[in-house]
Amino acid sequence: MSKTILITGAGRRLGKTLAEYWLTQGWQVIAHFNTVCELELHPNLRTVKANLAEQKDVASLCQELALAGPVDAVIHNASCFIPDCAATDLGKHYEVHFNVHVKAPAMITEALQWAPEAAMVAITDIYTDIPNERFAAYCASKAGLQNWALSMAQRLAGKVRVNVIQPGPIQFLPEHDEAYRTMVLSQSLIRRELGYDAIVEACHYLLSAKALTGTQMRVDGGRFVANRYDQTFRV
Ligand SMILES: NC(=O)c1ccc[n+]([C@@H]2O[C@H](COP(=O)([O-])OP(=O)(O)OC[C@H]3O[C@@H](n4cnc5c(N)ncnc54)[C@H](OP(=O)(O)O)[C@@H]3O)[C@@H](O)[C@H]2O)c1
Repeated sequence: MSKTILITGAGRRLGKTLAEYWLTQGWQVIAHFNTVCELELHPNLRTVKANLAEQKDVASLCQELALAGPVDAVIHNASCFIPDCAATDLGKHYEVHFNVHVKAPAMITEALQWAPEAAMVAITDIYTDIPNERFAAYCASKAGLQNWALSMAQRLAGKVRVNVIQPGPIQFLPEHDEAYRTMVLSQSLIRRELGYDAIVEACHYLLSAKALTGTQMRVDGGRFVANRYDQTFRV
């Protein structure tokens, strides 16, 4: 019998690539999306729409997922990445980030039925461990997702393995200009955009590696350990 994976934020970009990959592996894919779903129709694909910032959307998504049968794998990928300076209502700004990154994954995970030897991956960011004053709500809520995932590794032990991927710069957004791209890549050791395949590989590994649970894997081209400070000083 084929296996089932749930991927959130699978309408486009990385989530779409993840969904396409697991379809090619012969899995049943439940692809959650928010506004737009660019995935092509496929007999093994089921799409579910929900704004994870909205309580009522999450409640009806959970009802639907509770009836979907056991899942073998989940990737919590949905994410909002809004600078704090764009917030007109700071309370709402934090609420949206924490709803999408922490509350919705918790509600979804609670609603699911699990197949034997199931596994879950939460996609966070290297910025969970590096402060960024421009994206404080994003960083804080992704750090929340990461810590929540590790708690789930404890709570679901023996039933679901839970691991975390911390991506670095995998694919720039269209609004990122050349100067920004050059600056970010100059801070990595591999010095190129990693591409979605780097995260697909890491997800594949963590979902299939039977000995791994409660781990955090940086997939960042070495950006986290790259020198962030001028080290030309002399003693
Ligand atoms: N791109 C990078 O270089 C990078 C770096 C570090 C970490 N990451 C992490 O890697 C993952 C994938 O990156 P990405 O660039 O593909 O992410 P993304 O495009 O920013 O977001 C992923 C998906 O989340 C959905 N989403 C946003 N707001 C939502 C809401 N309120 N309710 C439900 N879904 C919502 C988006 O759907 P809509 O577009 O329809 O809203 C989008 O398809 C994310 O978790 C991201 O934080 C990415």
